Amino acid sequence: MHPGSPLVSFRHRHLLGIDGLSAEEITYLLDLAERHVEPNRQGDKKRSVLRGRTIINLFFENSTRTRTSFELAGKRLGGDVINMSTSVSSIKKGETLIDTAVTLNAMHPDVLVVRHPESGAVQLLSEKVDCAVINAGDGSHEHPTQALLDALTIRRNKGRIAGLLVAICGDILHSRVARSNIQLLNTMGARVRLVAPKTLLPAQVERLGVEVFHDMRKGLEGVDIVMMLRLQTERMHGSFVPSIREYFHFFGLDRDKLAAAKPNALIMHPGPMNRGVEIDSEVADDIDRSVIRQQVEMGVAVRMACLEALTRDLPSNGPLP
Ligand code: CP
Repeated sequence: MHPGSPLVSFRHRHLLGIDGLSAEEITYLLDLAERHVEPNRQGDKKRSVLRGRTIINLFFENSTRTRTSFELAGKRLGGDVINMSTSVSSIKKGETLIDTAVTLNAMHPDVLVVRHPESGAVQLLSEKVDCAVINAGDGSHEHPTQALLDALTIRRNKGRIAGLLVAICGDILHSRVARSNIQLLNTMGARVRLVAPKTLLPAQVERLGVEVFHDMRKGLEGVDIVMMLRLQTERMHGSFVPSIREYFHFFGLDRDKLAAAKPNALIMHPGPMNRGVEIDSEVADDIDRSVIRQQVEMGVAVRMACLEALTRDLPSNGPLP
């Protein structure tokens, strides 16, 4: 079994990234999330931990998993959850990010969950509001709750994170999931390999504390975890791969390349998947090896833990005047 966290509370006001979190703080959040997994499988999922609290989901980019799971997380904990769709908000009339934040802040939310296409935008917004802010993904910078749910999935299946060998494969250059996972896995004592063509790796990649491979079979040799990433075409300006067909041939995960990993290696993907581009359906749907659906399930538990941790020490509501 993994050792539990010695912490009894989370000292951060916001969750903007994995950068800056200690191993004890990550373990604290994972332990808190673990406590939500079984209750989430029961008929009555409702708790009252967030009763009276208001959570606003403010997504400037599309999302299926993150937005839905934050909404479920807030509601299952008894909070009031508002989903702001930027396509029907006053942002369409030219209101800026900061003015939107200040406007929402005036309504006294307790937590803002924000996704934005620009790296650093969520941090900027957090400086303008009084409530807690959770980064639900900012550009190619960080996606901390994705890394936490990946870590919970790994810990539940492998019993630990420390000492594991993890290969993160694909479009590292544009991936906030990769950045958050590299931070978390290094902090927790795992070893990280990046497997990608040179065009899809950031400059000075070795400074991230990883080993780099450009050959998929060599990169997957003996790994415990294979984490696949999609090509983030929405962040690409120009051509980064010769063709999808060639990309899949060299860097797509299929049965043949997977054979280089340990026989019990887990297959992970944060979603959304592009089948036949970075992953073959045969391995994505392998019920013995793929934990992609478990990742989605753990997403709700992890987001419940993050909401709980950030609101635990807020002052409770006083009597009405
Ligand atoms: N993994 C992830 O962030 O998925 P969504 O874009 O659907 O939220």
